[in-house]
Amino acid sequence: MAKLIIVSNRLPVKLQEKDGELTYKASEGGLATGLGSIYKKKDNLWIGWPGLVVDDPDKQSKIVEDLKDENMHPVFLTESEIKEFYEGFSNETLWPTFHYFSQYAIYDQDLWETYVEVNQKYCDEIVRQAGPDDTIWVHDYQLLLLPSMLREKLPDSTIGFFQHIPFPSYEVFRLLPWRKQILEGMLGADLVGFHTYDDMRHFLSSVNRITGYGSMHGWIYTNTRSLLVDSFPMGIDYEKYARTAELEEVKKRERIYRNHISSEKIIISIDRLDYSKGIPQRLMAFDLFLEKYPEFHEKVTLVVQVVPSRDTVDQYKELKEEIEELVGRINGKYSTMNWNPLQYFYRSYPLETISAFYRMADIALVTPMRDGMNLVCKEYVASRYEQKGVLILSEMAGASKELSDALLINPNDINQIVEALHRAVTMPEEEQKVHMTSMQDTLKRYNIHHWVTMFMDRLSYVKIKQLSLATS
Ligand code: G6P
Repeated sequence: MAKLIIVSNRLPVKLQEKDGELTYKASEGGLATGLGSIYKKKDNLWIGWPGLVVDDPDKQSKIVEDLKDENMHPVFLTESEIKEFYEGFSNETLWPTFHYFSQYAIYDQDLWETYVEVNQKYCDEIVRQAGPDDTIWVHDYQLLLLPSMLREKLPDSTIGFFQHIPFPSYEVFRLLPWRKQILEGMLGADLVGFHTYDDMRHFLSSVNRITGYGSMHGWIYTNTRSLLVDSFPMGIDYEKYARTAELEEVKKRERIYRNHISSEKIIISIDRLDYSKGIPQRLMAFDLFLEKYPEFHEKVTLVVQVVPSRDTVDQYKELKEEIEELVGRINGKYSTMNWNPLQYFYRSYPLETISAFYRMADIALVTPMRDGMNLVCKEYVASRYEQKGVLILSEMAGASKELSDALLINPNDINQIVEALHRAVTMPEEEQKVHMTSMQDTLKRYNIHHWVTMFMDRLSYVKIKQLSLATS
């Protein structure tokens, strides 16, 4: 029977090894929860890297066996593949380019070659696991070449591709020396999905200008086949966040944290360590807010959680230092005996702690310079049990297209962030409720399950349409 194979760089578990003992930690990520109920069904499968370098063949076989029961199959990456494929081409070439930080991008032929080899490695592993009629859903920028590699080996399979990060405008994308190969890699899919209409438009424009293929209503016609490009804004598991925020354990944690913070209002800021998230800019805006509105000294605290990420990459290491210097400087400037304007945590926390943070926060400050979607702002909204709270959100996050009831800001406009902070701390409860209720209604409806259904239905539709085109 035909099955669904999900492919992403990482598996939805993280393998850890302590004293020779292997353990698997389930991922809390949006994709893992969204696709959780699907890949575990029948013979479906999730293929990806387990998050740890394992060279010993015996250990590898054990991991394959362990994961088999969970409908997962590992792709093992070597130390040098991690350096050149993951840290290198994926996160030092594609990530900065696609987030409009092309000044950070490195263009290195060796890294590109490893990127091709590792995409081929994923392809070979999938081909070993797949039947000719299976549906394969490939995720994200680490695997842009995979759709075409798979198409060559499994010409009749159904292949979907979804990109979770932005797709830049042609003027930025064309900077990549391998721009044509990258597009040709993606064009092997039957359906290519992005979070927003703008990303989709940028992609179509690059395809047209670089490969010469035209498009109509999202359909691209190459010399040999047709495929559809469309936007599917990803939602969250709304019920999970709403339910967690109501747990007694979470309420207890919230009370404990609140008791430790003396100020009336709490602002939350949660991100993975990444320059695309605009964390230093956010801290500088908070500094300016305190300077401009001294009446809020001791009345407002900004809780900043930064989740460690990619800290072997230079830009990330430097960013961490910059953030920590700023936190120190701002706290040094304003702290009093019973108030620190910033509470800073560089670590990851379990869902219950994050949920308690969301519960206690009167305001969420989400100001990325660029973000494909951003799920933190959606999780905050879903966790607001009494419809109170204010979301300040960057226009540069894909989520801003759906959350027009947030206070939308341009993250480069520091004065606008300062004024949004002032508006947020003084917003009457009634007004907060109007906006929060409207955002909750949207997110409840367009949740992660809706996203998965939309994508899969559209993929089936594409296959039917292709057949009718072929026979007409
Ligand atoms: C973003 C990307 C994902 C990636 C995640 C965590 O959300 O779109 O593909 O998995 O960041 O980054 P990491 O480098 O730890 O996988």
